[in-house]
Amino acid sequence: MRRLDAVGKMSAPSLTRTLRSESPEETHRMGVRLGELLQPGDFVGLIGDLGAGKTHLVRGVAEGAQVARSEVASPTFAIVYPYRGRIPLYHADLYRIADYDELYATGFLDLIGGDGAVLVEWLDRVPQAAPREYLRLTLRPVADDARELHAEAFGSRPAELLSRWAP
Ligand SMILES: Nc1ncnc2c1ncn2[C@@H]1O[C@H](COP(=O)(O)OP(=O)(O)O)[C@@H](O)[C@H]1O
Ligand SMILES: [Mg+2]
Repeated sequence: MRRLDAVGKMSAPSLTRTLRSESPEETHRMGVRLGELLQPGDFVGLIGDLGAGKTHLVRGVAEGAQVARSEVASPTFAIVYPYRGRIPLYHADLYRIADYDELYATGFLDLIGGDGAVLVEWLDRVPQAAPREYLRLTLRPVADDARELHAEAFGSRPAELLSRWAP
């Protein structure tokens, strides 16, 4: 059940934005706004080194999607954490996943395009995990407390999501 990863990877993004956050709080607020916009079926891939701010952003997204603060963990031991908010939210971390076959065995792929929105840290570990249409966010430290956030939307719904998030 391989995806058409070559198509997704080779096509140019339909929309891109480069944002800048000056603090962890600002990254959190950006996440909140994104979480308010997410709909079932949305897929957001997060890329960036350890400490780039992926989890900070996701915590904001969870708040924006009305997930109770107590539900939000840092996905350290599990591959996927399901949260109950305004819509179901699935927070995954592929850091320890070796390859696509290992990921397939976890059942994670069944969540894609399902009843909730999916947020995936370390998507670059298993790029084939991405569906054809998704929003890719790459975070990069540019100073102690500043992060550059490069957003690339692949497909029309992700482009709509991005244009509403970062007009
Ligand atoms: N602008 C910023 N946005 C997000 N995190 C920041 C920012 N500036 C500093 N930080 C710090 O960087 C770290 C990000 O951690 P985390 O979100 O767990 O990263 P990741 O999940 O990418 O490994 C935190 O210690 C946070 O306080
Ligand atoms: Mg993290």
